[in-house]
Amino acid sequence: MNFLALTPLTADRLPQAVALDRQCLGGLWTLEGYQRELDSPNSDLLVLLPQCKRGAQPLVGIACLWAILEEAHITVLAIDPQYQRQGLGQAMLCALLTSAHLRGLEWATLEVRISNVGAIALYQKFGFQEVGKRRNYYQEGDQSEDALILWRKGLQHPEFPQTLRGWEETISQQLRRSGWQLAVGSGLAIGQHD
Ligand SMILES: CC(C)(COP(=O)(O)OP(=O)(O)OC[C@H]1O[C@@H](n2cnc3c(N)ncnc32)[C@H](O)[C@@H]1OP(=O)(O)O)[C@@H](O)C(=O)NCCC(=O)NCCS
Repeated sequence: MNFLALTPLTADRLPQAVALDRQCLGGLWTLEGYQRELDSPNSDLLVLLPQCKRGAQPLVGIACLWAILEEAHITVLAIDPQYQRQGLGQAMLCALLTSAHLRGLEWATLEVRISNVGAIALYQKFGFQEVGKRRNYYQEGDQSEDALILWRKGLQHPEFPQTLRGWEETISQQLRRSGWQLAVGSGLAIGQHD
């Protein structure tokens, strides 16, 4: 079993965060952009770090939300392609939703490329629903692509902590099947939210 830490990004790992962003998101934010998120009390910026016995720890996942009034705006979610389809994206999304709940936020929202069927399937698993489209939201040269706007309501519903616990159990099982275990004190705060 390999241990994983799900933990806030720290300044010493900013270059790794930028490298993963370039690899997975085509360079959404610069190092200064990530530094701004680190400095902002309204941002939760989480990373996933496999706990290797020797050598440098790779950074294999990154996720971020902005707390804006009652809203959690999910701005970043990315897993290193070599580590995808093992449950790590779900673990990070669940950690963001847990954090949004604990901050007292009412709903979560995000934009996703209309062609990004994998990410859309992931968000749907967690109760996100399509509420609209932003035409030509993504622009690359003379190419453009629409964004779907997804919405997850009910983060302060009395049953939401129970929902979180159910997800955490399912995710822990899937991670175990993939040979992963979250290190004690890591992100998924099972039993810590009521
Ligand atoms: C989207 C992303 C974060 C998913 O990470 P991941 O670790 O592979 O996701 P998980 O293993 O936790 O998958 C959870 C579920 O999401 C869905 N899913 C994820 N990737 C999928 C794919 N390529 N095709 C279809 N469904 C997919 C499945 O329902 C999957 O459950 P399953 O494996 O039991 O079928 C990852 O593919 C990624 O980093 N993509 C590039 C960046 C990106 O597009 N981010 C989203 C921006 S809005």
